[in-house]
Amino acid sequence: MSNLTSGNQMWGGRFVTGPDEIMEEINASIDFDKVLYAQDIAGSKAHARMLVKQAIISADDGDKILKGLDTILSEIEAGEFKFSRALEDIHMNIESRLAELIGEAAGRLHTARSRNDQIALDFRLWVKQAAQQLDGLLVTLIGVLIDKADEHKDTLMPGFTHLQGAQPVTFGHHCMAYVEMFGRDLSRVRDAIHRMDECPLGAAALAGTGFNIDRHMTSDELGFREPTRNSLDSVSDRDFALEFLSFASICATHLSRMAEEYVIWSTSQFNFISLSDKFSTGSSIMPQKKNPDAAELVRAKTGRINGSLIGLLTVMKGLPLTYSKDMQEDKEGVFDAASSLRLAIAAMTGMIDDSSINKQEMAKAAGSGYSIATDLADWLVREADMPFRQAHHVTGAAVALAEKNECGLEELSLEDLQAIDKRIEKGVFDVLSVEKSVQSRKSFGGTSPDNVAQQIAWWRKQLGS
Ligand code: ARG
Repeated sequence: MSNLTSGNQMWGGRFVTGPDEIMEEINASIDFDKVLYAQDIAGSKAHARMLVKQAIISADDGDKILKGLDTILSEIEAGEFKFSRALEDIHMNIESRLAELIGEAAGRLHTARSRNDQIALDFRLWVKQAAQQLDGLLVTLIGVLIDKADEHKDTLMPGFTHLQGAQPVTFGHHCMAYVEMFGRDLSRVRDAIHRMDECPLGAAALAGTGFNIDRHMTSDELGFREPTRNSLDSVSDRDFALEFLSFASICATHLSRMAEEYVIWSTSQFNFISLSDKFSTGSSIMPQKKNPDAAELVRAKTGRINGSLIGLLTVMKGLPLTYSKDMQEDKEGVFDAASSLRLAIAAMTGMIDDSSINKQEMAKAAGSGYSIATDLADWLVREADMPFRQAHHVTGAAVALAEKNECGLEELSLEDLQAIDKRIEKGVFDVLSVEKSVQSRKSFGGTSPDNVAQQIAWWRKQLGS
């Protein structure tokens, strides 16, 4: 039999010799695509049932195929299945075992399909599940941030621009900024799930099939919204993986920014937060050290996640329609990005939940660096009817004087202030405090505790919690 000469039972018909060792090594994907076994078997079972219903194969063969696939599933789950590189990938490993188990009927399973629609299906199912799992992890992270924000609605902290103290804000407001970011990630992953929720099975190699298949049936059975509409696109599209990686990269970038803040804030120089023992490590030489390793690793995971996105974009960018073997390189980056992101979200969630806020240090820092200067300028605009530019100038002079006197703006005397501009009155002192500054910022989306409470309520409603 020629298929034995060629060494490949699946497509050996026209081959005289088997592959070179290096060819086998570069060609095989089983080492990494074996994780798709459950999706592959689910796809095959749905396909077999459909072939029976459409009278393309007999009910008897269909039964044998379904039982055989169930046996294979339990063999793989029990760790008893022997994966073979010579059989290239998960599809051929399973089909070959099926032939061992049930004989000739196994050969009927591949009627009206191809490995091209098979892998498009398996990978989509896998990515969809990973995306759904990350959706759940994000909801938990957002929940923890909202609870922190609630606890710290009026905990004062410095707001920064250029990492220079800018204006006082609250820690609750800061937490809610991240809720907005992760909330967008959540909506991005949900959008991606919606778009990838189409079943490519039945596109066959690229052109569809002459058999009277029922693609709506397999799509329904596999939990998709509907079948894909164009067979060429079905086998050559990897947008679902690219969108997943785009979502993952943006989300990882958010996590990384937050991790960076926790790294900075946990230094003795800042001392805004204390990380728990559970989410930090010690140094083997310096006994005093408590290092924010979890945060640093979250920050670093972003590198490989972004790398996976660029990797796949680069694989896809020059491919003519439809399938090319290049596309086999789509998987490892996605698998790695999914597990990296899972770990990063979980670590961040635990770290935040377990950290404690050093309120006094934060409040002290919130008032330093003339952070309420804008409040003085705003008072001049409001009460002395000054154009803002002029008020800015007058306030600058007050800051310079306070700097010279080594005191806060609120510690300057009324006479000192009136010497700078005689329109200043004693009412100005009502706005010159960090608390007042924060409370006054009631514009929609501003940092006042009332606003933060409203943001929290809005998000809790969105999340149904
Ligand atoms: N292992 C292949 C992949 O991951 C499956 C599809 C193979 N198709 C083909 N025409 N060689 O892409």
